[in-house]
Amino acid sequence: MMDDSAHSQHSRESQQTLNFTLNGEAMTLEVAPNAVLLDVLREQLHLGGTKKGCDHGQCGACTVHVDGQAMNSCLRLAVMCEGQHVTTVEGLAHDGELHPVQQSFLECDAYQCGYCTSGQMMSASALLADGRIGRDDASVKEAMSGNICRCGAYKNILEAIQQARLAYDATAERGTAGRQEGAA
Ligand code: FES
Ligand code: FES
Repeated sequence: MMDDSAHSQHSRESQQTLNFTLNGEAMTLEVAPNAVLLDVLREQLHLGGTKKGCDHGQCGACTVHVDGQAMNSCLRLAVMCEGQHVTTVEGLAHDGELHPVQQSFLECDAYQCGYCTSGQMMSASALLADGRIGRDDASVKEAMSGNICRCGAYKNILEAIQQARLAYDATAERGTAGRQEGAA
């Protein structure tokens, strides 16, 4: 049986160095090779905005941006983010201004309990930046189908996204919509 000092040395040796950019800041972390991004964000970095729902890729509560793409952080090993740009809901506002999606979720009352809201906003903000997704309601609903809202706030969420699109288009023209996220 391993004694305590041997055990802690073994733990240190099994850590892996991760270099990535989080919400615009370069950082280096020691993480377990099997640690998922969601747990690193919440437990190691104490960023509680990204929520854990199903922990199995089925609810979207844990959505973050990786190089500008919306992804379920519960399905991604943290070490896979080496060299990548990760944005959480804490990094969505820019220069003290809410992202258009945050502003419109507020104005359209697009939440009830709020548990799904950060994931909804991360998917919605990625959707607005993705020119491949149609602008009509059906295309938006399809693109948002991975984000479950148990409170059933879908109608207001859709309204908020379409309202945010107007502001997003205007800020995108000025080149100020959201932070730069690498490949997006
Ligand atoms: S917690 Fe990741 S998809 Fe549900
Ligand atoms: S607002 Fe409650 S789960 Fe969506």
